[in-house]
Amino acid sequence: MSALSELCQEILACRRCQVLAENRTRAVPGQGAEDADIMFIGEAPGWHEDQQGLPFVGPAGMFLNELISAIGLKREAVYITNVVKCRPPQNRDPLPTEIHTCRHWLDRQIELIKPRMIVTLGRYSMAMFFPGKSISKIHGTAYKQDNVIYFAMYHPAAALHQQSLRQVVMADMLKIPSLLAEVDTVGDLEPEPKQLKMFEGQSHD
Ligand code: URA
Repeated sequence: MSALSELCQEILACRRCQVLAENRTRAVPGQGAEDADIMFIGEAPGWHEDQQGLPFVGPAGMFLNELISAIGLKREAVYITNVVKCRPPQNRDPLPTEIHTCRHWLDRQIELIKPRMIVTLGRYSMAMFFPGKSISKIHGTAYKQDNVIYFAMYHPAAALHQQSLRQVVMADMLKIPSLLAEVDTVGDLEPEPKQLKMFEGQSHD
């Protein structure tokens, strides 16, 4: 069994958050390629995900699938997970203590998968990687640290509730291939960290 599969087994057995463990049908560790270049991080499983044990399989997931195909990728080629691995009762927002407790699993997933790009979907995952920022200001922007690109997007569910966001989310998604390509080019040509064209003016501090 791979280290990532073992980690998923540990997540499935996790009972660190009593309320979540008692109310879930099953934990939802994540799904996708173990060597994915791109890792999408959502908020927490909803009803469909809790039933199936897979991330983003409800209506928001259908839109995420569309977004992933729009950049010429198959869902199986990326890795999809959430900040919190268990569905909060009644789909309430995850609590700070749950996010903190679950962070350990996400950190280990990142260590094992080593994605070249982390795409945050919505406010909760954005808050982890773009602390103090506002999604309406920074969606569609990226920064690079330790050779990983961090890219913030609205949550796909936001576009289902607010149709006008659909095009915004799609436009942001379509930036991903060139961000990855640009990082490659700069990496090859420039040993020192360098401001990338698409990253200009988007300092992360
Ligand atoms: N919303 C999320 O944030 N994650 C899922 O897995 C499904 C819906």
